[in-house]
Amino acid sequence: MQKIIVLGASSGIGREIARLYATQGCMVGITGRREKLLTELQTEFPDRFIVSAFDISEISTVERYLDELVRRLNGLDVLILSAGYGKRNSELDAEPEQQAIRTDVAGFTAVVGWAFKYFKQQDYGHIVAISSIAGLRGNRYSPAYSASKVYNMNYLQSLRQLAHHQKINVGITDVRPGFVDTQMAQGQGVFWSASVPKAAAQIVKAIEKKKDIVYITRRWKYVAVVIRLIPRIIFERL
Ligand SMILES: NC(=O)c1ccc[n+]([C@@H]2O[C@H](COP(=O)([O-])OP(=O)(O)OC[C@H]3O[C@@H](n4cnc5c(N)ncnc54)[C@H](OP(=O)(O)O)[C@@H]3O)[C@@H](O)[C@H]2O)c1
Repeated sequence: MQKIIVLGASSGIGREIARLYATQGCMVGITGRREKLLTELQTEFPDRFIVSAFDISEISTVERYLDELVRRLNGLDVLILSAGYGKRNSELDAEPEQQAIRTDVAGFTAVVGWAFKYFKQQDYGHIVAISSIAGLRGNRYSPAYSASKVYNMNYLQSLRQLAHHQKINVGITDVRPGFVDTQMAQGQGVFWSASVPKAAAQIVKAIEKKKDIVYITRRWKYVAVVIRLIPRIIFERL
């Protein structure tokens, strides 16, 4: 029976991924800040879900919560980081920018760093984190969010190189969605939005295949190529 932690399981993509693993018979630790949503989810598979409500941006407590959750799960095979914060903020209001940094940079680093060290010690494991197509280039809608997502991508690549260099048997999957129909992806400019079940199913399949990088849905792989090819001088005038 696989032991899995899904951070950000209280809503959106993470909630659906947690459901899929519970359906497969895995033991799943589900986390997020909104405990009520987590306990609601738990009622769907009371024997499969273990709830741990905490805030990943409070980085001094992350290790303690994860250590305790792994004890309750009695081990860990896969850690999936779907917790993230993204808000449109062309006005550059301070709070949303700082919240993105606290969650998607500081919180991300605390969680992924803990997982890498844990899996290194047990000499196997798999880290999965959701970055975004938004990390491929900067964007005027959400500067801190897009910057945090390129941070995620580069950090995960660093870990892949580190694992190879140190001969550590740890898989690292960088999931790069385009738009997925969650609370986070609302408003103007949203197109080709995938349903949450479709996105979650493709992510679970990519995890099974231990992919290094996966675009969700698949067509965003081609969009990514185009986004990268646009000359900077044109891109900055879009
Ligand atoms: N939807 C899209 O179009 C899209 C596209 C590209 C990438 N992504 C990425 O996909 C991931 C999942 O997003 P989603 O679309 O599923 O959005 P969502 O429904 O808003 O889910 C975000 C999850 O993150 C958790 N979270 C946020 N801040 C947290 C914190 N400080 N500590 C702990 N948990 C926290 C939330 O739980 P609580 O509020 O209960 O804490 C929630 O469970 C994010 O990393 C997002 O950037 C989404």
